Amino acid sequence: MRFFIPQDTSALACGAEAVAQALLDANIEPVRNGSRGMFWLEPLLEVETAQGRIGFGPVSDKDVATILKALESDASSHDLYLGAVDEIEYLASQQRLTYTRAGLGDPLCLENYQALDGFNGLKRALTMSPQQIVDEIKNSGLRGRGGAAFPAGIKWQTVLDAGATDSQKYIVCNADEGDSGTFADRLLMESDPYQLIEGMVIAGLAVGATQGYIYLRSEYPVAHRLLNTAIEKAMEANFLGDNIGQSGKSFYLEVRLGAGAYICGEETSLLESLEGKRGMVRAKPPLPAIEGLFGQPTVVNNVLTLAAVSTILAQGAKTYQDFGMGRSRGTLAIQLAGNIKRGGLIELAFGVTLREVVENYGQGTYSGRPIRAIQVGGPLGAFLPESQWDTPLDYEAFAAIKAMIGHGGIVVFDDSADMAAQARFSMEFCVEESCGKCTPCRIGSVRGVEVIDRIVANEDRDNNMILLHDLCDTMEQGSLCAMGGMTPFPVRSALTHFAQDFTGAGKGDN
Ligand SMILES: Cc1cc2nc3c(=O)[nH]c(=O)nc-3n(C[C@H](O)[C@H](O)[C@H](O)COP(=O)(O)O)c2cc1C
Ligand code: SF4
Repeated sequence: MRFFIPQDTSALACGAEAVAQALLDANIEPVRNGSRGMFWLEPLLEVETAQGRIGFGPVSDKDVATILKALESDASSHDLYLGAVDEIEYLASQQRLTYTRAGLGDPLCLENYQALDGFNGLKRALTMSPQQIVDEIKNSGLRGRGGAAFPAGIKWQTVLDAGATDSQKYIVCNADEGDSGTFADRLLMESDPYQLIEGMVIAGLAVGATQGYIYLRSEYPVAHRLLNTAIEKAMEANFLGDNIGQSGKSFYLEVRLGAGAYICGEETSLLESLEGKRGMVRAKPPLPAIEGLFGQPTVVNNVLTLAAVSTILAQGAKTYQDFGMGRSRGTLAIQLAGNIKRGGLIELAFGVTLREVVENYGQGTYSGRPIRAIQVGGPLGAFLPESQWDTPLDYEAFAAIKAMIGHGGIVVFDDSADMAAQARFSMEFCVEESCGKCTPCRIGSVRGVEVIDRIVANEDRDNNMILLHDLCDTMEQGSLCAMGGMTPFPVRSALTHFAQDFTGAGKGDN
């Protein structure tokens, strides 16, 4: 029998280390895998038996002795027995293209990665011309998963075509993952880091870049450690570095840490930070694809965009393209968080509705109270009332209701949430995180907090309401980037759908 207990941040936060220690005390050395993404079951102890891989969860160190005892006779007799892990509905019903390997084994084991089809995409890319690789990404319909949903193939084409043939180009992976309720990048990096590394090498081959950087938020120490070790091992195995697989092509990769600023997730601010400067947003044009890192042509892509590249090259653009709806192709890494019973990662084709995700997978709120609002797409995303929960998760369908999918984070609020307080928080967040470059965002957000306070205190309500809408218009139209430009989205959605909360009478059920 082999035992598996995860070593990723979420499982560790739930007590996985104590479970691992209890196993060691019983002379069992567990495999330290990553999470399968079913966070409500963490720590999830898996056991490979003659009948297949079964699970117990959520487990504490105190349960280890009784589980070992049950395994000697009838495992299913244990209270925490979950049956075959692959058959748990939450997991079995997903359409995993990016997270196929997540949680299956030691994330640093190269042999394991290769046995599960890892590096097949890279091997194929090495037989193709740069233009063929770019065409494959274009044909897949892959759009950036960082938030803006820009077509990845078009960005790559721009970088491929930019500069002189011998220009130094860069691949920068945006692993700043600052949105509220998001953890998909972290889960991928901690459960299957080679998938990201492979995608970055393929991106390098496609556009002619020989150097890559992963810009990782400093709050992810586990991912930092795992990525650095994975890079070392990939170098030793010649999947990275000089003359990859004797192809004559080279690609080097390093991790750089951020320092806790939300705005450093914005790509130009990220590039400033990567160059060792303060994270201030740059005016565009020039686009980073033309003049990016150190003024050179640069691909900036999110972790999940680059991870999807490995799958697309391995399985072909057509397979990827076959998932999804409309112009949203492939799968979305949905992250369920906030006041939710079954939080975790759910990878599904675009097109599933918000209601299906929250009710079927999430099973309602953790508090057991009715859901009141759902914020999708991070702190700049709108608060959606029940009348909008049947909207399919599709970039265009969300844009049509003035909402966004962003990085796929879903934060659920129950009926005790005060949406005026949430609107105030959105403005306050912008005050804290604004880079300060432009006035509508830097000053507007401060004024926004004050105006909301006056509205809720019933001070000259009607005029202050007009002022707040004017302020939102100014921020939306006059800000240099989406930080100031989209902060009005959550504020306006709260005003529209939860107006009663702004009357000063406390929250209401309108
Ligand atoms: C305020 C702000 C914060 C952002 N934070 C992130 C982030 O944490 N991670 C990310 O990948 N993209 C983030 N973005 C989007 C990036 O600017 C950029 O669009 C993305 O990295 C491009 O990669 P993609 O095309 O693969 O999505 C942010 C944008 C803004 C305006
Ligand atoms: S909108 Fe805000 S974060 Fe963006 S450039 Fe202007 S001041 Fe900076």
